Amino acid sequence: MLSRSTKNLVRKMTLPSLVESRRPKTSPDIDPSTLSNYQQFQIQKTTLNLEVSFDQRIINGSVLYQLRSLQAQEEATNRLCLDTSYLQIHNVTLGGSKNLQWELKPRQEPLGSQLVLEYSKDKNEEHSLQIDFSTTERCTALQWLSGKQTSGKPYVFSQLEAIHARSLFPCFDTPSVKSVITANIASRYPVVFSGRIAADPSDGQNGNKIYHFEQPVPIPFYLIGIASGDLESAPIGPRSSVYTEPFRLKDAQWEFDGDVEKFIQAAEKIVFPYEWGTYDVLINVDSYPYGGMESPNMTFATPTLIAHDKSNIDVIAHELAHSWSGNLVTNCSWNHFWLNEGWTVYLERRIVGALHGEPARHLSALIGWNDLSESINAMSDPERFSKLLQDLGTKGDPDEAFSSVPYEKGFNLLFHLENKLGGPENFDPFVKHYFQKFAKQSLDTYQFLDTLYEFYQDKREILDSVDWETWLYKPGMPPKPKFDTSLADDVYELAGKWFKAAQSGDYNGFTPDDLNKVSTVQLVLFLDTLVQSENSVDWSKHADAARHLLEIYHEKVVNSQNAEIVFRKFRFQVESRIEGSYKELAQWLGTVGRMKFVRPGFRLLNKVDRPLALETFQELKDTYHPICKALVKQDLGLS
Ligand code: BES
Ligand code: ZN
Repeated sequence: MLSRSTKNLVRKMTLPSLVESRRPKTSPDIDPSTLSNYQQFQIQKTTLNLEVSFDQRIINGSVLYQLRSLQAQEEATNRLCLDTSYLQIHNVTLGGSKNLQWELKPRQEPLGSQLVLEYSKDKNEEHSLQIDFSTTERCTALQWLSGKQTSGKPYVFSQLEAIHARSLFPCFDTPSVKSVITANIASRYPVVFSGRIAADPSDGQNGNKIYHFEQPVPIPFYLIGIASGDLESAPIGPRSSVYTEPFRLKDAQWEFDGDVEKFIQAAEKIVFPYEWGTYDVLINVDSYPYGGMESPNMTFATPTLIAHDKSNIDVIAHELAHSWSGNLVTNCSWNHFWLNEGWTVYLERRIVGALHGEPARHLSALIGWNDLSESINAMSDPERFSKLLQDLGTKGDPDEAFSSVPYEKGFNLLFHLENKLGGPENFDPFVKHYFQKFAKQSLDTYQFLDTLYEFYQDKREILDSVDWETWLYKPGMPPKPKFDTSLADDVYELAGKWFKAAQSGDYNGFTPDDLNKVSTVQLVLFLDTLVQSENSVDWSKHADAARHLLEIYHEKVVNSQNAEIVFRKFRFQVESRIEGSYKELAQWLGTVGRMKFVRPGFRLLNKVDRPLALETFQELKDTYHPICKALVKQDLGLS
């Protein structure tokens, strides 16, 4: 360790000039996606007292902030601005008793309505502020389900990333701000929360129980997760349980039992010990719009992970990895989202590598590469959305900018650095250093680069040889790294044989055994290769070949219960214009809510049968999560 005085003498390394010239004036970068004046306050603690009302479909209650103002002493009054979106504000009190006036500014899309409070406090003087509020019908943070949409009891869950926390309660809705949180949540049904259970439930009013939680590690508000419904739990590891509706509990337990602890231990070796105590998983309802969400202590996950063969559990490795990347070390704004997701995909694949070997890590990276390429090809505005560093401004909506780019371009940048710097053994010390250095903080890409350059001072030439311009600022695909294809070659070969067969019309020589030794991940790559390879055929002209393929591989492809396979089967059928499949795809879209499948599913249908796509959307739209509904509407050109 350097002493304080020598530390200050170490000249700060400057980055290559093309990067330096784009460095933001403020470090960390300012978050454009908030209307709060978060830089002028510091939160000591946040307490949420909430009541879930299934009858009214609202959550109401209060948020209590313990704050310090960082505003200059000369200013007689403090102005506090918070984010809200479709909230009703009932009352604001300062110091437990003094009622304050408040003003709710007109709504500004997509950021919501700024809540403005004025009061006087000395700089640094700790004070408390309580805001009583309710959510409204237009809330974008919650989905309410009736008993008909679940196994019988009403259900509610939150999804706050990226900028929907403001639709649940008034807050500094920016990943730049972190707070420890206490939550007391009253509900008729069991409640799970992104924190530790602090006490047994106590009796509340109207037949409610009050559930008590603590999150002692400071977190940004987008990480808060709340769900309430007919939830039961079962153990899946020494520090882990799975929560879900009773009808799924056994399947969920079977799917995850044992593996979660293996993931945690693998991650602990790569980074450092897990700091959050327990690690539980909530298997949410069908309409859950994401594969998973990394709410601390309680990953929220889609039921499509239950594939009955453990073939989808890598999503859990991903959400668990967020315990370091994202939850401890956080992007300071959604422009730097790759710091959350790129790092998480990197760690997820390192976990896969540790448990299943390097070739498995590379196979996963190859599939990611295909995803990236497909995602950029399908973009409405690739010039804007395919850059690693985003520029959302105050008009950009992070939900619309969401794509594979931060995940896969981000992963590939880290993978490129790992290779350049001499492989995992030489990169690992930096991984540990980076997460140690920024734990409990939020940072931007430039701070990441500063740390990288500082850490590898003696390898500066290697770092300078990275094409930063392309990686950070240019749209389109990044340079392709060398992947180990040992687990991909057989699959490429099989796909190649099918391209030939499609042209010759000779399907002898294919048997179901072709897929005998093929894992689910390899099958995913096979189905991707069929439609994405440069050597592929135009399947719409070879529907007959496509039919043969699906018949021969019926058992593994058509009968699969794994959503990753089911989706790709439909894509293959639609690309082959097998018309009988359109209705089936439409029906399937009524059983999944995960946007990763719903959005491209509708895009496929729309391409081949727009009336069916529109009719299906009309029928299903109110079963989808509000975000999913809005995005599909846009994808179909209806908004
Ligand atoms: N944090 C994301 C989900 C998210 C991102 C929600 C942005 C809202 C806005 C989560 O960790 C994630 O990446 N989920 C993926 C799974 C994965 C294995 C890549 C998903 O939902 O598909
Ligand atoms: Zn993620």
